[in-house]
Amino acid sequence: MEFKEKLSTYVAEIELAFETLLPPEGTRPARIHQAMRYSLSAGGKRIRPALVLAACERFDRSRNAIPAAVAVECLHTYTLIHDDLPAVDNSPLRRGRPTCHIQFDEATAILAGDALLTYAFQLLSRHYASPSDRGIELIRALSEASSSERLIGGQMEDILGEQRILNQEELNFIHLNKTSALIEASLEMGAIIGGASSEQIDSIKSYGRCIGLGFQIVDDILDATSDTQTLGKSVGVDEASNKSTYVALHGLKKSRQYATELANEAYKICDDLDMPFLKDLAIYLNRRTN
Ligand code: IPE
Ligand code: IPE
Ligand code: MG
Ligand code: MG
Ligand code: MG
Repeated sequence: MEFKEKLSTYVAEIELAFETLLPPEGTRPARIHQAMRYSLSAGGKRIRPALVLAACERFDRSRNAIPAAVAVECLHTYTLIHDDLPAVDNSPLRRGRPTCHIQFDEATAILAGDALLTYAFQLLSRHYASPSDRGIELIRALSEASSSERLIGGQMEDILGEQRILNQEELNFIHLNKTSALIEASLEMGAIIGGASSEQIDSIKSYGRCIGLGFQIVDDILDATSDTQTLGKSVGVDEASNKSTYVALHGLKKSRQYATELANEAYKICDDLDMPFLKDLAIYLNRRTN
């Protein structure tokens, strides 16, 4: 199957699973379930859940990675809802729609984020109860990636960094944690479900680190160069909030070069691991326009 067709198949599977795996909109209290579904179904690229499915398939096609993929997308969507809040990036648009706090209100957006975060772990514990050591490994991988030392730590330093110009080490810390951590964990979780060895998990995570860091550099480039219509989210946010991004520190040309180097590095790791879909994905993500 062609790369694009395969990616669309994954996205369709993931979006179909939202219907069955999430509490229905009418579940009491309806407002919170509506807000959760509103942000989740707004139409993201679904890269992280696709990574879960692709990594699992690489090792064992017969295993069901869908609930883990949905868990990752729930957790990712929570980070977006909270990232957009007035106290954080203050963004009015996300995935082509008003952000959760604009469509509902701030309190509902905070709670919808909280609920999606919790629901991710509910899904893992329900669907991967047996064998229990595998379930615990999945919960460990996702909780470590989204912890105060990784995703939230990255977000914290990102916010603290608005006060001054950061150095390269500080910028890398932010990118590797606020963004790459969840991307690495998505691959790790898929590989765990597929029964990969610890060496294979390490290799797939090093691929994840390259595409994860590259993903945020491209995000920073798009924030500076794209438009709201194409991106489906507010642009120019980084400059307006004085963020030290790759673009601010190194300029567009060097940022693009570095992102391409990372994509090439990821590409090579795929040859060793025989992962054609992930190989194409590394290049696709580097060239993405939204
Ligand atoms: C946006 O992630 C937040 C970052 C970590 C850069 P995506 O660009 O994957 O957003 P969606 O899921 O497609 O909306
Ligand atoms: C957000 O980084 C990373 C997380 C949500 C964890 P950004 O603030 O750059 O993401 P966008 O540009 O709003 O999607
Ligand atoms: Mg942010
Ligand atoms: Mg933001
Ligand atoms: Mg951004």
